[in-house]
Amino acid sequence: MSKVKWTNEQLQAIQEKGSNLLVAAAAGSGKTAVLVERIIHKIIDEKMDINKILVVTFTNAAASEMRERILEAIYKKLEEEPQNTHLQRQITLLNKASICTIHSFCLEVIRNYFYEIDMPSNFRIADTAEIALLKQDTLDDLFEQKYEKNDENFINLIETYTNYRGDEPLQELVLTIYDFIQSSPFPEKWLEEKLNEFKIDDSINNFSETVWGKILIDHVREGLEECLLNLKNIHNKMQPYVELAKFTNTISGDIIQIEDAISTLDSWDDTYKKLNNIDFKKWPIDKKVTLDLKEEAKAIRDRVRKKVKEGLCKIICKNSSSICSDFTQMYPILQNLCNLTLEFAQNFAKCKKEKNCIDFNDIEHFALKILLRK
Ligand SMILES: Nc1ncnc2c1ncn2[C@@H]1O[C@H](COP(=O)(O)OP(=O)(O)OP(=O)(O)O)[C@@H](O)[C@H]1O
Ligand SMILES: [Mg+2]
Repeated sequence: MSKVKWTNEQLQAIQEKGSNLLVAAAAGSGKTAVLVERIIHKIIDEKMDINKILVVTFTNAAASEMRERILEAIYKKLEEEPQNTHLQRQITLLNKASICTIHSFCLEVIRNYFYEIDMPSNFRIADTAEIALLKQDTLDDLFEQKYEKNDENFINLIETYTNYRGDEPLQELVLTIYDFIQSSPFPEKWLEEKLNEFKIDDSINNFSETVWGKILIDHVREGLEECLLNLKNIHNKMQPYVELAKFTNTISGDIIQIEDAISTLDSWDDTYKKLNNIDFKKWPIDKKVTLDLKEEAKAIRDRVRKKVKEGLCKIICKNSSSICSDFTQMYPILQNLCNLTLEFAQNFAKCKKEKNCIDFNDIEHFALKILLRK
């Protein structure tokens, strides 16, 4: 079999050292091949043993594929260097090598160091149905306690998020937030950070300076720039036709107003005013002009007007102080909601511990906890 001629990018991915590396490429373009070659390089050039390398995948199938392809690559190298005892040894060591799914690696860590996280050695992994029941029971208990205590913060949440039929909407919200934050390595910390982003400093009088303001303004900028580009393109096409002059002038007027709005994007209030004051003048009527370009221009302009008036103006629909005060009112409610979710998380963890079980999310979180402690 002839030797693979790697591309420059592949060679870089095979040889790069001393940093994290992300390889993203199309399906079937050689990602696994590069990873296998990277491992072979470590074995040959750095004289590393394969059982000292951790290879994790998402699926069992991918783990088996990795194992097979590494073995194949070792055999291929052995054809070139049949006397290489280091390579020969790798074939035996491959049986003990950690080439597995991320979950089976994490489970191995937990089974070996369960005492580090205060777990009994005989814990079991609960199935999805049992976990769903435990979650619901924990949540019902928590709500019941809160009702009994007539907890003021809780009652506020009930009034904000539920309807007369029952408290399910709030329960669903807590579960959704809980499930969502599990994908973060540090769920509680993540939630706290996100909550903080809703806390708007009193000294801020330009909403554009907040995380949320920046996102919205960027969105508006993109929208306005797209409108401007469309108007300019059609304007250029129309300009050579003298008979279109009044239509071209109307488009010029639109362009000036949109450029003006773009120039104010640093200030929320100026943008708010400019955007809402954009006045798309009436499209002239002249039956004598029969050029198709006139209709094309009208269609483009109608789309731009719709985008500005029904899209962008709705994004920046209030002035800075009014949005900031909405955030100030919203913050304590969100704080309550986060606290309720965290309380649920604590109770749920306790409940799983009592039942001596862990769920799929725990597998990764507990392994991380152990690895960070060591
Ligand atoms: N530079 C190259 N020259 C020739 N063949 C190559 C080269 N790079 C990869 N290949 C071959 O292309 C095929 C697909 O490669 P591989 O399975 O590594 O792709 P992949 O990106 O991991 O695919 P998938 O997205 O399906 O996981 C393999 O047979 C591999 O040997
Ligand atoms: Mg692959």
